[in-house]
Amino acid sequence: MRIDLPPPPSDPEFLGAEILRLKRERGALLLAHYYQEPEIQDLADFVGDSLELARAAQRAHATTIVFCGVRFMAEVAKILNPEAEVLIPDLEAGCSLEESCQPEEFARWRQAHPGHVAVTYINCSAAVKALSDVIVTSSSAETIIRKLPPDQPILFAPDRHLGAYLAKKTGRPLVLWPGTCIVHEQFSQEALVGLKALHPDALVAAHPECPEAILALADHVGSTSSILRFVRESEATTFLVATEPGIIHQMEKQTAGSGKRFIPVPGASGECSCNNCPYMKRNTLANLLTCLREGRPRLELPEALRLAALRPLQRMLELSQSPPPSGD
Ligand code: 13P
Ligand code: SF4
Repeated sequence: MRIDLPPPPSDPEFLGAEILRLKRERGALLLAHYYQEPEIQDLADFVGDSLELARAAQRAHATTIVFCGVRFMAEVAKILNPEAEVLIPDLEAGCSLEESCQPEEFARWRQAHPGHVAVTYINCSAAVKALSDVIVTSSSAETIIRKLPPDQPILFAPDRHLGAYLAKKTGRPLVLWPGTCIVHEQFSQEALVGLKALHPDALVAAHPECPEAILALADHVGSTSSILRFVRESEATTFLVATEPGIIHQMEKQTAGSGKRFIPVPGASGECSCNNCPYMKRNTLANLLTCLREGRPRLELPEALRLAALRPLQRMLELSQSPPPSGD
C-alpha cells in the first residue's frame, strides 16, 4: 500500500503555498524589494524600489504589512502607516549604510555645519531620519536636490558614492558623510572592463551606490526601478548589471521572450555571489512563513520618534512628485 506523506516543511512549493494561505488568512499585504530572493518576489503583492515601496506602504489599507526588505524600509512603512501592524521576517536585516551613520555622530556632524540643510538617503535609521531635513531615495534625490535654493549649503549622508554622483549630476557642492554600501562598493572595475571586451555590444547598467570608477563605465545609472525600465526599453540584447543580482529575476520576467541576457558584474574577489546583499538575503521562505504564522518579529517605534522621522519623509514624498530627471 502506498502512503502519501506530507511534503517536508523545507519544500519551496509547500512553503510558498502556506505563505499564500496565511497571508490571505491575516489579510496581509506582502511588499518586497527587488533584491529579495526570486521566490519571495513571486509571492509578493508588490515589488518595487525603496520609493515605490514607501508609497505602497503609505497607501496600504491592509491591517498587516509584511515587509520583505531591510529593516529601515520596514521602519519607513511603519512611520508612514502607523495604523498597520508591520512585520519583517528578520529584524537583523540591517544595511551597511545605516550602520555607518549613528545618530549621536550624525548630530555632531550637523552641529559642525551650521546653516547646512541635511539631505539624507533613506538607507538610515529612524533616529537619523528624525535629525534630517529631507529624506531622498536614489530615484528621487536628484529631483529634490535641484529644488533646493541654489545658494543653500547641503550635507549629504550616509552614502558618499551616491553623494559624489549627485554632486556631479546637479553641480551642487555637497558635504559628504563617509558611508558606503558593502555590496555596491566592491564591484570590480577590472572584471567589468573584461566583460565589456567579451561582450562589445552589451550595455552597462549601474546603481549610483557604485564607486565613480564603475559609474564611469556605465551606459545607464539609476535606481533599481530605473535600471529595470532601461533594460525593458533598450534595443540592446545583452546587459552587464552592476547592482545586487536579485534584480535579474525581475529583468528576466519583464523581458521574457525578448532574448535579452543579463550578466551580473562580479565583485573584486571574482565571485558573483559576493554581490548578494547579506542583509536582504536574511529573509527566506522559512522565516517569512514563521513571521506570518506567529505575527512577529513586529516593527515597533516610539511615537515621538515616529513623528520626528515622519516630517522629513513627508517632505520627500511631496518634493519627489514631479517627473524625475533623465536617468533617475
Ligand atoms: P533603490 O531605492 O534603488 O531600490 O535602492 C535601495 C538599496 O538599498 C540599494 O542598495
Ligand atoms: Fe544596504 Fe547595500 Fe544592502 Fe542596499 S544593497 S540594503 S545599501 S547593504
